[in-house]
Amino acid sequence: MDKKRIGILTSGGDCPGLNAAIRAAAKSAIAAGYDVIGIIRGWQGLLGEKSNIILLDRINTSNIIDRGGTILSTSRTSPFDIEDGPQQVLNSVKRLGLEGLIVLGGDGTLNCTLEMWQMGLPVIGIPKTIDNDVRGTEYCIGFQTAVQVATDALDRLRSTAASHHRVMILEVMGRNAGWIATYAGMANGADFILIPEIIMDDKKIDRLIQMLVDRGKRGISFSIIVVAEGTMIKGKTHKYNIEGKSSKLGGVGRFMAEIISSRTDFNTRFSALGYVQRGGTPVAYDRSLATHFGVRAIELVKEGKYGRLVALKNNKVTDVPLEKVQGGIRPVDLSIYKVAEKFFG
Ligand code: F6P
Repeated sequence: MDKKRIGILTSGGDCPGLNAAIRAAAKSAIAAGYDVIGIIRGWQGLLGEKSNIILLDRINTSNIIDRGGTILSTSRTSPFDIEDGPQQVLNSVKRLGLEGLIVLGGDGTLNCTLEMWQMGLPVIGIPKTIDNDVRGTEYCIGFQTAVQVATDALDRLRSTAASHHRVMILEVMGRNAGWIATYAGMANGADFILIPEIIMDDKKIDRLIQMLVDRGKRGISFSIIVVAEGTMIKGKTHKYNIEGKSSKLGGVGRFMAEIISSRTDFNTRFSALGYVQRGGTPVAYDRSLATHFGVRAIELVKEGKYGRLVALKNNKVTDVPLEKVQGGIRPVDLSIYKVAEKFFG
């Protein structure tokens, strides 16, 4: 009898920990007697007449647990971008003889995965994104690494800010959620954190300025401000974005630096951390979360339980219906932000 086959793909922005998940899923599936097909460049690898695939084995999935990025490559292509894309994916999966497909994705990819499930594709989702904004799970693969990178950057900015008596602003990623900003800001002891969940109106900007002035009066010569790239400034009709492309956020850090410079005498500088947050070696937490998630996905395959999202709930690895990803992004839990806020100023 032919061996059963499953497919695995990574789609959307890459993040640290993807390879650890691919390794865990592939090795567990191989041990359970499956052939594992890696799809190259996400959904794009399943579009068209000829699929772009590799056979994953114990050798090409070894020695990758600590490697950033994804050995399968990724793309932001959705099957729904092209007219008969979903049908092309269904055809490819049939042609390849895949019993099911494991999809590692963020909010956008997982919503598209849900639609493919509703169209009859047997899928299992694994949440991964530095933004940590997927509904249905407490943590996504990649988030803890991004927080560590942002915290390290803030620690470095703290020493140069202190030396020069400056206000230092760090703009971090996270799209429309402030998870990275909140956690990295808390870990650094930042003096103010701006997140998309809290619109910066005039009152809040006044409070920020007052906080800086008060610190100056207390003889503290520098301040650290973290701003999430998706932060909204009231009165602006759009989020700051690069090159006018609404999908590419960026620029709110510079804008805040201009406001502070125009309203105070503080010497103010800003940095945007950018893609450094997404690259490189995953921290230990992301590797073990990815390993747990990969193993769980294969348990679901073995049970024939498709249409599920592998998730972390109450700090335990479990699975929930894929429908849980619906309803927009998962915003920051403001009770966590409030803890960081206690140390502002
Ligand atoms: O979703 C992850 C993320 O890194 C966001 O934090 C950021 O806004 C976006 O991707 C950048 O997208 P791209 O890789 O398409 O430039």
